Amino acid sequence: MKQRLIRLLVRQFGHPTGLLGKIAGWIMAARPSNRKRNSWTIELLHIGPDDRVLEIGYGPGLALADAARLVTSGKIVGIDHSHMMFNAATVRNRHAIGEGRMELKNGRVEDIDVLLDPKLFSSFDHIYAVNVAMFWQDLASTLKTLTARLVPSGQIALTFQPRTKGATDKTALRAANDIRDAMKTAGLANVKIETLKDLSPMAVCVIGRKRNAKC
Ligand SMILES: C[S@@+](CC[C@H](N)C(=O)[O-])C[C@H]1O[C@@H](n2cnc3c(N)ncnc32)[C@H](O)[C@@H]1O
Repeated sequence: MKQRLIRLLVRQFGHPTGLLGKIAGWIMAARPSNRKRNSWTIELLHIGPDDRVLEIGYGPGLALADAARLVTSGKIVGIDHSHMMFNAATVRNRHAIGEGRMELKNGRVEDIDVLLDPKLFSSFDHIYAVNVAMFWQDLASTLKTLTARLVPSGQIALTFQPRTKGATDKTALRAANDIRDAMKTAGLANVKIETLKDLSPMAVCVIGRKRNAKC
């Protein structure tokens, strides 16, 4: 019974709904490791005040809040398919949303063309996701779709910390290598792997850049 409940709760992290989704959302917002890997991801991006930023799978909106402290004249956009997380992130980031610096969408990244009009949302400087890419069915294809939304030399960062029982630093590094390969398949260049060893197992962040059209 206890094991079944844990399995059901773990599944909630991919698409929080109902009471268990509420608990998953609360864990995401409160757990120090989650807060740390979100703030670390934002630090790695070196976001400027007038940059355009897109987060996929924002959950309770921790990283959005960190990004909102940096983006004063640019724009932050988020996509998450959980209606519950849309509500939680909206409350957390109500000031930035009210000021027009942030816009949150409720839907699947796979439906990005419906959610974000390509004429209005095709020039992001940074696109990132924290512990989300493992839920995407076709990583390289989703990365290709996202790359089309970057400015030349814009970057995509995917952070991952394994949370499964028995996971080690090696598990994290194996995932990082898979993400790096998928980024290369998607056409991203200068792909590098950063590690956060303060966490156990460590978190990895894989960052790739869109090629400059002139290169
Ligand atoms: C493990 S949670 C991480 C949340 C947040 N990034 C964090 O670190 O606190 C994964 C989030 O990604 C969202 N998600 C998963 N697959 C998605 C998809 N295909 N499109 C949009 N959102 C997705 C889920 O709803 C959930 O909020």
